[in-house]
Amino acid sequence: MWLGKFLVGAALSMAGPALAQSPAMPAGASVSAGAAETGPAWATAKRLRRGVNIIGYDPLWRDPAKARFQPRHFRIIREGGFDFVRVVLQSFAHMDARNRLDPQWLKTLDGVVKGATDAGLGVILDEHDFNLCSEAPDVCEPKLIAFWEQIGARYRDAPDTVLFELLNEPHAPLDGPRWNAMLARLIPVVRATNPGRTLVIGPTRWNNLEELPGLDLPKADRNILVTFHCYEPFRFTHQGAPWAEDMKGLKNVPFTAADEARIRADYDKVAAWSKANDRPVLMGEFGAYEKSGTPVAARARYTATVRREAEAHGFPWAYWQFDSDFILYDIDRDRWVEPIRQALIPLAQRPTGQ
Ligand code: BGC
Repeated sequence: MWLGKFLVGAALSMAGPALAQSPAMPAGASVSAGAAETGPAWATAKRLRRGVNIIGYDPLWRDPAKARFQPRHFRIIREGGFDFVRVVLQSFAHMDARNRLDPQWLKTLDGVVKGATDAGLGVILDEHDFNLCSEAPDVCEPKLIAFWEQIGARYRDAPDTVLFELLNEPHAPLDGPRWNAMLARLIPVVRATNPGRTLVIGPTRWNNLEELPGLDLPKADRNILVTFHCYEPFRFTHQGAPWAEDMKGLKNVPFTAADEARIRADYDKVAAWSKANDRPVLMGEFGAYEKSGTPVAARARYTATVRREAEAHGFPWAYWQFDSDFILYDIDRDRWVEPIRQALIPLAQRPTGQ
């Protein structure tokens, strides 16, 4: 089921209608003249800059006493040079038969939002039940609506540094048309309680950049940050990953200069889409799996390339992930995985100089 990510760079072209001038643009105006940066999402994007995905797989959601991630890690992340966290929420397992979220789970989430905010970090609340939602969209939709009704009401007065990401990585059978139809029902639910909050929304096929032209967003809503995920080249980043079907047996796949050029060309396409559509873009996940023995030097080179290219193209980014796998921070030894951290936040750019 992870094969879809593998197809990121496949044959589909982005040179469709979305790269043409938007209908609001006068005939003859150039694409760059269309880059008006209209609406508050652009300012949000500029504030976000550098982030990391956290606590998706932490036992803290079931039993706070077993938490690996501790409140002090927010300070460590902030002082380490990061601006925001993307909080990975698998909430459906914490709902009752009427889709009401468990009060204990919500209390944990309150602590996370407060801890991150007090540390000076922006927060993206990312609903991450993407597999169920993609495989059974009709089962998912009432749950997703119930989730955003409850979260929308609970955090309606949260600072504007808190963002809502409606669903991680939709993929077939939740394809473009079905995802767009679901969004048309979801967005008003969130907007009913949070008219001024920045929403994060990405295209189908696991937030694949090639699917950006098919993403149908309400034209008048200019407070949407569009997201994509980038694990290209997938054969490098997921070599040996047990959950990625055809990648399990792979090893010794290098990260090459051609891969670097390809990443640059892909981001050029995303940046062109962003300008033409006047939508800021976030790269919400990237990283290379470490537990199958891919050398750290190669992973660091990949990580630095993606980070640099994202920044050169003006995309805030969030590394996948702090703990669990692809790790950036070794919680057991209480220290950064320094080569990955260096690839993300070079020494010279660290707020504390260390
Ligand atoms: C998934 C993780 C996976 C990662 C890299 C994320 O979106 O939630 O389970 O490890 O992508 O494949």
